Amino acid sequence: MGSRRTRTLSIATDDPDMAAIQEAAEVIGAGGLVAFATETVYGLGADATNPQAIDRIYRAKGRPATNPLIVHVDTIALAQKCVVDWPAHAELLATAFWPGPLTLVLPKAERIPESATAGLATVGVRMPRPAVARRLISVAGVPIAAPSANRSNRLSPTTASHVLEDLEGEVDLVLDSGPTEMGLESTIVDLTTREPRILRPGPVTGPELQHALGGVHIRLAAGDSSAVDQSMLAPGRLPVHYAPRTRTLWIAGPESILDLAWPEQAALVVFGVHEDCPEPPEHVLLFELSTPDVAARSFYATLHDCDRRGLDLIVLLPPADLPEWQAIRDRIQRASKPAVT
Ligand code: TXA
Ligand code: MG
Repeated sequence: MGSRRTRTLSIATDDPDMAAIQEAAEVIGAGGLVAFATETVYGLGADATNPQAIDRIYRAKGRPATNPLIVHVDTIALAQKCVVDWPAHAELLATAFWPGPLTLVLPKAERIPESATAGLATVGVRMPRPAVARRLISVAGVPIAAPSANRSNRLSPTTASHVLEDLEGEVDLVLDSGPTEMGLESTIVDLTTREPRILRPGPVTGPELQHALGGVHIRLAAGDSSAVDQSMLAPGRLPVHYAPRTRTLWIAGPESILDLAWPEQAALVVFGVHEDCPEPPEHVLLFELSTPDVAARSFYATLHDCDRRGLDLIVLLPPADLPEWQAIRDRIQRASKPAVT
């Protein structure tokens, strides 16, 4: 580990060069690791049916064996081969949102090794949107297991350079198709319980899911992690996750901006629009991410940027508690601790 060479190829997202796809598919076929862009974040991909390749993902990331992987497919037919049950809710959600940022948790088929699902009897499947991802899966001819292409517990990567910062030498090939379109990980829905549950809020919102299911009630099992029975969640759903290196705090409201002891090197990230938001001290770097789309696209990139600058403190001012901000509020909670002012 660490001694391998990482090759990087530039490739178009929507009309990828097939020679590069062929090369990447051969790496996957040989049990290697390929990082590629989805519409959410870059994934660290390997043949989901090959236990040795799965082991390499866990070693490269330093990921606990208890944290299951998402399996990526290019067709609904391939998704159905990864699971043993395809309920009506799966059909409705796949038809409405695939290809797209939605992962469905269903009972696992035998061809997916237990190591890929951390011993769980279920598997998360999703069909990513960019052609580069789907062509890779179809040319490789296998479902591709891909966690986010970062070291365990670090920020998710939304560019190829984020991937290289964490995994240079660990991944065989990086397909660089530029920054990802959405920037936040997929929404995860558990369809193995009587009522569908959102395990991780993401770009597809609760009301959108509920609408696609014809009004069926859908519970948010995550989002407010303090209110959740942690034992019911997948192990990757620990309260602090996706954290920057820099000390990162969230504040309850704009008034706290005045109460904070700001160090010399600090940044404030404001999510949404706040009335009567005081200005931070002049030396504080200010990032304003006003809409859910902009905030999603820039969330990890902004925190990566702050980390690179070697700041002493990052302060996050969360957006209003509205469905369209749920995913951002979830990632803020996981990236930071509450400030005591
Ligand atoms: O947008 C995404 O989902 C990105 C791109 C690459 O597709 N992938 C991603 O993977 O975020 P990862 O490994 O960073 O997060 C996957 C999470 C795990 O932490 C776990 O909580 C959940 O998915 N998960 C996977 N399989 C599961 C299962 N069978 N049951 C419950 N949760 C599962
Ligand atoms: Mg991740």
